[in-house]
Amino acid sequence: MAEVVETGVPGDVGRHPRTPAVDPPVLVVDDLVVEHRNDRTGEVFRAVDRVSLRIGAGESVAVVGESGSGKTTLAMAATGLGPRGGGDIRLLGHPLHATSRSQLRRLRPDVQVVFQDPHGSLDPRQSVRSGLRELRSLQPERTSWIGDADLLGRVRLAPDLLDRYPHQLSGGQAQRVCIARALLMRPRLIVADEPTSGLDVSVQADVLALLRQIRATTGAALLMISHDLAVVRSVCDSVHVMYRGRVVEAGPCETVFGTPEHDYTRELLAAMPGARWRSRR
Ligand SMILES: Nc1ncnc2c1ncn2[C@@H]1O[C@H](COP(=O)(O)OP(=O)(O)O)[C@@H](O)[C@H]1O
Ligand SMILES: [Mg+2]
Repeated sequence: MAEVVETGVPGDVGRHPRTPAVDPPVLVVDDLVVEHRNDRTGEVFRAVDRVSLRIGAGESVAVVGESGSGKTTLAMAATGLGPRGGGDIRLLGHPLHATSRSQLRRLRPDVQVVFQDPHGSLDPRQSVRSGLRELRSLQPERTSWIGDADLLGRVRLAPDLLDRYPHQLSGGQAQRVCIARALLMRPRLIVADEPTSGLDVSVQADVLALLRQIRATTGAALLMISHDLAVVRSVCDSVHVMYRGRVVEAGPCETVFGTPEHDYTRELLAAMPGARWRSRR
């Protein structure tokens, strides 16, 4: 894969021109509470309970926990895409409670979400190429830095896939297209919500390797949501362990997985093949 792409800007290799040392955090979540109301019974359920987290520029932070622990609710609230109850969120320096819809729309390109089901995220009536064309027409200045074929190269897809429709793509290919669409915006934060859970085991590792590489080459921060410790371990620096809406333990992956303090973290580790923490390096 070519590392240097045609951009018209000398020396530009697609890396976001920001450095962690001087930039403010991309996301600060303080004491977030999100409640869901059951429309039928009227019952209120607290899906996220006083969660705090912080992601610095270029950092890679995971939220791990079993299904139903509130991970997606947290991620959607934190990025302004889902409901938010109490607490404070600063996204790219903007306090969400004081950010208008139009301001939020302007922030949107900077925060890209990759979902679990890639086919569900793509318009079935659009070829890959026409989907990219549409994105470019919405954000012409933002997206002119790279051509379609080079963009696909970045996610290790051949250019002939540009003329395919989503149903003509495998799960792994479709997820790479979703990642390419996110990259096109040169985001400062990529949120990946179970990005490999819907894929065949055989391609999961490739997609994770791709996310690692994207982190290294673009400088974007990553919020990785997963129920799978192995996924977290392979991509992230630090981890928040979520259990029934709460963060029960947080810290660098090495610490949390190496010397887990909470019973739930130990359970998660015990359920993992090859249970003991091993450094990925
Ligand atoms: N829109 C919603 N309305 C009502 N309950 C919801 C809604 N979304 C999620 N929930 C509930 O909130 C809890 C957390 O869900 P979710 O954030 O999707 O967890 P996770 O992503 O960890 O699997 C679950 O019990 C789920 O059933
Ligand atoms: Mg989820």
